[in-house]
Amino acid sequence: MWKILVLHGPNLNLLGTREPEIYGSTTLEDINQMLRARAAEAQIELDAQQSNYEGALVDALQSAQEKGYAFIILNAGAFTHYSIAIRDAIAAIHLPVIEVHLSNIHQREEFRHHSVIAPVALGQICGFGADSYMAALEIIIRRLKGQGQSHD
Ligand code: DQA
Repeated sequence: MWKILVLHGPNLNLLGTREPEIYGSTTLEDINQMLRARAAEAQIELDAQQSNYEGALVDALQSAQEKGYAFIILNAGAFTHYSIAIRDAIAAIHLPVIEVHLSNIHQREEFRHHSVIAPVALGQICGFGADSYMAALEIIIRRLKGQGQSHD
């Protein structure tokens, strides 16, 4: 059975009450449940983790390979914009990572426009709320089932 890891970065544990005008009222648990339900339908195992700590996210990325994950969906939160450690961890592992964001980071403050992760990610999906994660999962399902286009 294929396994997928979903990694949520800092402050995403507060979803639901955190700046709902930007991030919506969906909680992190809601998102994880939607992802798990869709993954189960496709007979894929999905694990989700959240951490507010950069090092914990680096550890999770590093160990993802030996734990047998085939793909990672990552919302690195604010670390997206400046964590070279997370970028380097992605570059070091031999696993495809899809970068996701709930909000459209390109429409927001200037400092959110740049992602240090994007160059080492398979691609970036942002601006669709919880559907950013769902779209990433859909792409992964298509790829694992051999129907998706591969550009790498
Ligand atoms: C975010 C966007 C980031 O700029 C911000 O720091 C977050 C959430 C998003 O999902 O829209 O914490 O990654």
